[in-house]
Amino acid sequence: MIMHLGIANVGPAPGMELDFGSRLNLLTGDNGLGKSFLLDILWWAMTRTWPAEVNPRLTAGKTALPTDKKQPAIIKARFSAASKPIDSKSDFKPREQTWSIKAGRPANPGLIFYAMADGSFAVWDPARNYWKSKREEGKARPPAYVFSPEEVWNGLENSDGTWLCNGLIRDWAGWQKERGQAFASLEAVLAVLSPSGEEKLVPGKLTRISLDDVRDMPTLRMPYGQEVPVLHASSGMRRIISLAYFLVWCWEEHLKARELTGEDPECRAVFLIDEAEAHLHPKWQRTVIPALMQVMETLRPGREMQLIVATHSPLIMASVETLFDAAKDAWFDLDLSDGNVLLTQRPFLRQGNVSNWLTSEAFDLPSGYSQEAEKVLEEATQALSNESFGPEDAQKLDQQLRGVLSDTDPFWIRWRFVAEKKGWLS
Ligand SMILES: Nc1ncnc2c1ncn2[C@@H]1O[C@H](COP(=O)(O)OP(=O)(O)O)[C@@H](O)[C@H]1O
Ligand SMILES: [Mg+2]
Repeated sequence: MIMHLGIANVGPAPGMELDFGSRLNLLTGDNGLGKSFLLDILWWAMTRTWPAEVNPRLTAGKTALPTDKKQPAIIKARFSAASKPIDSKSDFKPREQTWSIKAGRPANPGLIFYAMADGSFAVWDPARNYWKSKREEGKARPPAYVFSPEEVWNGLENSDGTWLCNGLIRDWAGWQKERGQAFASLEAVLAVLSPSGEEKLVPGKLTRISLDDVRDMPTLRMPYGQEVPVLHASSGMRRIISLAYFLVWCWEEHLKARELTGEDPECRAVFLIDEAEAHLHPKWQRTVIPALMQVMETLRPGREMQLIVATHSPLIMASVETLFDAAKDAWFDLDLSDGNVLLTQRPFLRQGNVSNWLTSEAFDLPSGYSQEAEKVLEEATQALSNESFGPEDAQKLDQQLRGVLSDTDPFWIRWRFVAEKKGWLS
């Protein structure tokens, strides 16, 4: 688990300091202010790998470079590890174009999962990716498992031609035929992650989709009675089923590895998730974070889990209102202030509904209206308190308001009341 991250002279801001909550952490801010960048840095701080260095097929997750090449750049972190908190500090070494890593066995922050915005996934498993010991010299373990979106489905190959992971299609089909623990977990996770009670993600019968693809293809049972091959499912469904598969695969493999080494499964995990709302219908955006928190409890009952979520969605912010607990959770917001990127930890105040979230500090919109409606409403609001406003202008404005507002807009009541009192519209 990560407790603190501090960076200087790297990324969009001159520096950032974050004190994380032990459970749910939310990250908001405009496009390009550094949410994904922060997740990459967190991944690096805990795993000492950059996703794109482990897997060159990735288009994101590249090594972070200092802003001012002549000044020192620093990444420091504090984790809770097995016995006591551990501090790490790295600086950028310009000659090598890498970040310094302390020699010896590094801190083990637990299992680290990373779901990137483009459908790439990464996991660092202390049972399988931990620092090689002296005796293991020469047969290095993979530094992490990093999947491009395509590899999540079709499998991840090692550089020596062996398979690190079979991929969703083969594993799901295999698990379904075997009817063991893995398939039971997958079914349970899919059920929890389903958009609603009426639209459950339920596996259907295996099928084939091409004369040239000999793989048995998993299907999903749709509410309209068809069984749709997973590769034909909507992007929202594919995002969620790949997430479900990834988590089940990671945990199953972790359990197997620990069984082999005779150790207990890891009790701590950190899950970094970028654009948690990606491809999801509003209805589903409302359930995904609470569901993810429940998934981890389903897979790993009683174990600690820290979630760090970057989002652009007011629905996601609204969806955690009832569960947010300032003792365990935190919200960080990135803003542009006088030409500088500024990270602020904000108190999480209940907004009550999604529109209020839009106009809150999280998203900074003037309103939830269209831009055109916003302009007309501003004019109308000014007109209401303008003593010299006359009937002719008011009638024009009335027409404009009709063109932009819905019939049931609350503004009508105010407008009608004042306009009538002033005799504008008669
Ligand atoms: N590898 C990198 N090295 C240094 N800075 C980076 C790197 N990648 C991204 N950044 C910084 O982060 C910004 C992009 O932010 P990003 O995290 O993609 O925004 P968003 O908040 O939309 O996710 C870039 O403009 C740059 O300042
Ligand atoms: Mg991003």
